[in-house]
Amino acid sequence: MKAFTKTKYGGPEVLQLEEVAKPALKEGHVLVKVAANSANPADWHIMRGEPVLARFAFGLFKPKSKYKIPGADFAGVIEEVGSHVAHFKKGDRVFGETLQGGAFAEYLCVAANVCGIMPAGTGFAQMASVPIAGLTALQALITHGKLKAGESVLVNGASGGVGHFAVQIAKAYGATVTGVCSGKNADFVKTLGADQVIAYDQENIHQHQGKYNLILDTHGNLSHDDYTRMGERGVGVGFTTMGHMIAQTLKGAIGKFPLTQFTAQANTKDLETLALLIQNGAITVHIEKTYSYKEIPEAIRYIEAMRTRGKVAMVWE
Ligand SMILES: NC(=O)c1ccc[n+]([C@@H]2O[C@H](COP(=O)([O-])OP(=O)(O)OC[C@H]3O[C@@H](n4cnc5c(N)ncnc54)[C@H](OP(=O)(O)O)[C@@H]3O)[C@@H](O)[C@H]2O)c1
Repeated sequence: MKAFTKTKYGGPEVLQLEEVAKPALKEGHVLVKVAANSANPADWHIMRGEPVLARFAFGLFKPKSKYKIPGADFAGVIEEVGSHVAHFKKGDRVFGETLQGGAFAEYLCVAANVCGIMPAGTGFAQMASVPIAGLTALQALITHGKLKAGESVLVNGASGGVGHFAVQIAKAYGATVTGVCSGKNADFVKTLGADQVIAYDQENIHQHQGKYNLILDTHGNLSHDDYTRMGERGVGVGFTTMGHMIAQTLKGAIGKFPLTQFTAQANTKDLETLALLIQNGAITVHIEKTYSYKEIPEAIRYIEAMRTRGKVAMVWE
């Protein structure tokens, strides 16, 4: 089968398209013929081995051979079902996420419990764009942020992959939403349903005096003072610099402000909650650019600028 592989850390040029063996089916897993992927910041963090701390997990000097094939988000069709898998059958159209990599390939052997069934009428590129960004938004707002109907939420970085899902999910759960993005994306964020938009290039968010029940920072540049000034509780998922993240973690540990930082966990229940929200029309998946699978390195290069409007997808056809 065709797959992108990498044997060293570096930019998108380290990704090579080559012929490799099709993965063998394992217990509790499904074999998926991949039809589409999407690109996420996690792809280039893992590809570059940055921040350096990530190398303790993925390989100190070069990527461990088990992480040879990159790629996390996928959608496709189940070709084979392993033993002890009850929820899926051959021919099911599924979408999911694996931070173990392996998704930038024609076939992927993946744990069944990180897959969900695609709703009828949805497309592969559309659903491949959902897993990491959609799960992060859902778990940030609902699992960790405990958002309730009638509450107010500030979404910092409202126009990107995570942010554009967060605005729509928060509205679907009955919240009042203020989105922070660049001026060029203000109209886009309003069309997602945001009640109010703050353009960070026109108003300094670090001096904003609004008050919110929940602050969700998907960009990762809000300070501890920003959280305490504007919010009752906060969830941070974005990453700007190591120094900023360490300062946040330390201040969070010693301060009284309830701030959660977490890594999204894929599971069938949350994926299918997102699928239902898409089927009901509560969430629209916005794809800014679609690439061929042959251009996966270019897709990663594009999203590294961290200015994506919605998502970037790659299709295997
Ligand atoms: N913890 C987790 O499990 C988890 C999971 C997924 C992602 N993440 C992290 O979350 C972050 C966002 O991921 P993503 O996929 O949404 O990335 P993305 O699609 O590249 O979106 C980033 C967004 O940040 C916005 N932005 C840039 N500068 C900003 C500023 N000064 N203030 C506010 N917003 C600004 C951009 O909007 P404009 O173009 O309008 O400026 C852009 O839309 C990344 O750091 C990623 O690593 C964490």
